[in-house]
Amino acid sequence: MTGTFNVVHAYPEQKRAQIRAAANIIGIDEAYLSVMVDAFYSRIRSDARLGPIFDAEIGDRWGPHLDRMKRFWASVALNAGTYSGKPVAVHQRLAGIVAEDFDRWLALFRETLDDTAPTPEAVNYLMIRAERIAQSLRMAMFERTGSGVPSLG
Ligand code: HEM
Repeated sequence: MTGTFNVVHAYPEQKRAQIRAAANIIGIDEAYLSVMVDAFYSRIRSDARLGPIFDAEIGDRWGPHLDRMKRFWASVALNAGTYSGKPVAVHQRLAGIVAEDFDRWLALFRETLDDTAPTPEAVNYLMIRAERIAQSLRMAMFERTGSGVPSLG
């Protein structure tokens, strides 16, 4: 193992650079994430179920929303540190969403990756992260105990 550099023991900046380099090798960078976010929300907006939910909430603020989501994905996928926000609180106050809407969201996300991702590894890399975050948002919204037991009220 001499000569290899262990991510776990790297200094934060080196670790950040290593995560970015690893993502870059499978084709994920800011330019791709920008294409991906635009394509995904274009799909969302044409979806009969999710389109109206997003449009009602976002109204004429789609430009800022897309910019925020590009920073979010750069932070998730590249460890860019460009997003700060409270996604759980934002989603908890959305009205009219049911748990199955997350399945639809994830299906549209996968279709977007299948259409646009530069490599199969990039599909997996982003899909795994999307599923993990969707799961924690869904838990926060619908299972307030966080124990896997549906909340009674
Ligand atoms: C059915 C599923 C979902 C619905 C209906 C939904 C809806 C929304 C809406 C309407 C907003 C904009 C709120 C506003 O600016 O007024 C938003 C923001 C956001 N969503 Fe979702 N979302 C869903 C799932 C997800 C998932 C799975 C992720 C992550 C993988 C995600 C990440 C975010 C983030 C990061 C923001 C920005 C929060 C902020 O900093 O303001 N959402 N979502």
